[in-house]
Amino acid sequence: MLFSSLPDRVRLTEVGPRDGLQNEKIVVDTRAKIAFLTDLVDAGLQHIEATAFVNPRWIPPLADHAEVARATQQEPLAGRARFSVLTPNVKGYEGARAAGIDEVAIFLAASESHNQKNVNASTTEALARYAEVTDRARADGVSVRGYVSCVMGCPYEGVVPIQSVIDVAVRLMEMGCSEISLGDTIGVGNPRQTVNLIRAIKGSVDINRIALHLHDTRGTALANIAVALEEGIRSFDSAAGGLGGCPYAPGASGNVATEDLVYMLDGMGVASGVDLHKLVRASLRMEQVLGRQVPSKVVAALRGTVDDTAFSS
Ligand code: HMG
Ligand code: MG
Repeated sequence: MLFSSLPDRVRLTEVGPRDGLQNEKIVVDTRAKIAFLTDLVDAGLQHIEATAFVNPRWIPPLADHAEVARATQQEPLAGRARFSVLTPNVKGYEGARAAGIDEVAIFLAASESHNQKNVNASTTEALARYAEVTDRARADGVSVRGYVSCVMGCPYEGVVPIQSVIDVAVRLMEMGCSEISLGDTIGVGNPRQTVNLIRAIKGSVDINRIALHLHDTRGTALANIAVALEEGIRSFDSAAGGLGGCPYAPGASGNVATEDLVYMLDGMGVASGVDLHKLVRASLRMEQVLGRQVPSKVVAALRGTVDDTAFSS
């Protein structure tokens, strides 16, 4: 029977402070980012991707990565959640380490063209960079998460063969990644495709080490997560408010909203550890910073019913 073996709990990785803010037109003030992180922790999120140690000329909104990363080691954030950061190469890794970070994420597309645009390297070159990062991380006892992007389609190449996704995922696992997050970067996937992908990849990568990172560009993310739960996936990425996008993926919009995901999980009896109302307040406060409404449907439904002033002031 459908949904007869749902888990009691799933793991969420909150990517709002990184993926959510990297594509914003305005550069959010560092103090507002730290307040956002604090709100997210207060709402119960246990793993948060805080920023990216990428070239600030490429991603200006995250140019304050060192300051944000250091803040995660200080009051009121220190020790209250796991904070990871994106690192595209050894330079980024060293910056993250200097800021006290002990969990990083590396990212690579299953499509050659997207890698050229996003990390200015071929897939082979990028894998060589990441081998250096993972060697350093292993020696330092630093945990590394691996993203595979464009798993359901590429903005430049269109269809991406499942075998290309598996090949990149296996290489990242062999390098020592603790978890592989499969990214529908431009939000083109559907439930049937999601099931096919999971069934194909779980022969090569332990399903307990696979996460899904779904952008909700065409409104299919929750449907894809529902079937992924049924297929045994227990780890999902999302962004508060549904913020997000990749500047090197034309047409990509926000990640699945953490509120929308938590609402669905709560209703299905699957715990995530997140307090939905506190999370909505976090997104409402971020709306004030950004000067626009966030795309989350659940935030829209609860807007006006949640006091956005009395939280984490
Ligand atoms: P590059 O320009 O080819 O690098 O960038 P380079 O090695 O030729 O160096 C050029 C300059 O960049 C040098 O500075 C380096 O020091 C500097 P200069 O001497 O000219 O002053 N540089 C750096 N600066 C800061 N931090 C660094 C760094 N590395 C070199 N780490 C690079 C190559 C990979 C750095 C660049 O292409 C880059 O920053 N790309 C990041 C793009 C990005 O952040 N994209 C969005 C994240 S991925 C995503 O959103 C997808 C995901 O969400 C999953 C999904 O949705 O599927 C994860
Ligand atoms: Mg993304």
